[in-house]
Amino acid sequence: MRVLITGSNGQLGSEIKESASDYENLECIYKDLPEFDICDAETLTTIISDQHINAVINCAGYTAVDQAEENPEIAEQVNVKGVLNLVNALKKVDGKLIHISTDYVFDGNHSQPYKESDPVSPIGVYGETKRAGELEVLNGSIDAIVIRTSWLYSGNGNNFVKTMLRLGNDKESIQVVFDQKGTPTYAKDLAKTCLDILSGASSINLSKKGSLYHYSNEGVTSWYDFATAIMEISNIDCKVIPIETKDYPTQARRPLYSVLDKYKIKSDFKVTIPHWRDSLVNCLKKINHNS
Ligand SMILES: NC(=O)c1ccc[n+]([C@@H]2O[C@H](COP(=O)([O-])OP(=O)(O)OC[C@H]3O[C@@H](n4cnc5c(N)ncnc54)[C@H](OP(=O)(O)O)[C@@H]3O)[C@@H](O)[C@H]2O)c1
Repeated sequence: MRVLITGSNGQLGSEIKESASDYENLECIYKDLPEFDICDAETLTTIISDQHINAVINCAGYTAVDQAEENPEIAEQVNVKGVLNLVNALKKVDGKLIHISTDYVFDGNHSQPYKESDPVSPIGVYGETKRAGELEVLNGSIDAIVIRTSWLYSGNGNNFVKTMLRLGNDKESIQVVFDQKGTPTYAKDLAKTCLDILSGASSINLSKKGSLYHYSNEGVTSWYDFATAIMEISNIDCKVIPIETKDYPTQARRPLYSVLDKYKIKSDFKVTIPHWRDSLVNCLKKINHNS
């Protein structure tokens, strides 16, 4: 199967690039800005058709949650129009799609893990555009699944783990919010899950079992506890001070609770999911090894 990885220089795309050689039946082709733009429908359609693409893992997205509040048009262009372009291009070649979405489609008012069947209610532009992108896929009449994930990090790109390492090495103490709960996701684990699913899907209908799935690492934590674990595991002597969200104002509001229920993906695709702390240890080892 020839698989196009869009947004291949981002966190998830880079992890797919590192893991894809383990999958003999998948031949991955990697594309990203500036030479490849999912908003350019014509080029996208040509590449998918000329390069005989059978499937796409869409890792491209406008992911700047705060900036999206100021640039709703760009967020909409990439997260909705770009996704529609992918769906339309894949329709022409009868191709499959794994599209990645977010826990930010929920408002965070739950106290139990969110199931795929729970109503969505995004509280910011990023979440709104990602939800609209999901609908383009789910209503697109192609063989596709949408995987919502949360708190993604990896050794590549900018993310919370790398920010904590940098601040922890520079400062004696840092303040981190303790009242937002969710689950971190090591992009490597999600990358392998996407590849596992596609690798087993050569001859089956991907969305036969259902189209919407949740994936994060196992467990529940807060940003404060996550930061504390990063410092502890890395032996960084920086005090992490818990603060409330109201004392750390950001342009976009975030859901206070966004734990995802992963029963469906585990049961339908026989996925085994590591605990967030075990995956954090693996990621930190890798960052350490590469530095
Ligand atoms: N990061 C998180 O915490 C998180 C949480 C939940 C869900 N997700 C979702 O997971 C997916 C992957 O996230 P990630 O953290 O890997 O994102 P990322 O690191 O920001 O990577 C996204 C990639 O897409 C590229 N891109 C942006 N606009 C594009 C366009 N028009 N055409 C082609 N490529 C484009 C970006 O290029 P530039 O860098 O040059 O813009 C970047 O290389 C996204 O759909 C995101 O919404 C992320």
